[in-house]
Amino acid sequence: MRRPSGPADRWSGISVNVSMAGSRTVEDPRLDGRPVKRIAFGSDQISTRVRELGCAITDAYPVGDLLVLGLLKGSFIFLSDLVREIRRPLQVDFLVASSYGDAMESSGTVRLVYDPETTLEGKHILLVEDIVDSGRTLSRLLDLLSERSPRSLEVCALLHKHVAEHLRYPTKFVGFDAPNEFLVGYGLDHAENFRHLPYIASLQ
Ligand code: PRP
Repeated sequence: MRRPSGPADRWSGISVNVSMAGSRTVEDPRLDGRPVKRIAFGSDQISTRVRELGCAITDAYPVGDLLVLGLLKGSFIFLSDLVREIRRPLQVDFLVASSYGDAMESSGTVRLVYDPETTLEGKHILLVEDIVDSGRTLSRLLDLLSERSPRSLEVCALLHKHVAEHLRYPTKFVGFDAPNEFLVGYGLDHAENFRHLPYIASLQ
């Protein structure tokens, strides 16, 4: 792996100095030299917000079966942190859809690749998304899931760009209002890279 120049021990830790947010190059080996415009959301900021979302979700579902449905792949880190902050019984399952290829703009195509095995009927369904961009993915999925007679169907998105022209459903739980930039990290990728960043960065 290509590494930015500097002493080796500067690159060995998992933490990144988020005070480097701004237009400077972020020195992180996980970026493999890719310049980022800025760190949009730091790891501490994300942790705090995920904890708040967990509390809000706990309070919102006092009774009934809760199935937290993670939309892969982008939600995998967010979901794993979020469910540990929800203080009530729940089940977890996943579904896979794909709306983007390796490009930085939406193809407009939503492809279902994996359907949850868990029964949705009669349960509170909380669909967990990493980011709502055009809203095409969510609209398609919510149409499909609502046909399965859930007790309730809500969305929790870590990021929401609020530019969606195609979203016919409200997003009940939103982590952050996101800038209309190409964001990577904390599950979000560019061409499958950078999902493992513990912060969310805006690519140049
Ligand atoms: C990304 C992202 C959202 C969706 C948002 O998924 O994770 O699911 O696009 O875009 P939209 O609001 O314009 O539909 P992607 O299809 O890239 O798959 P991934 O989750 O595997 O990265």
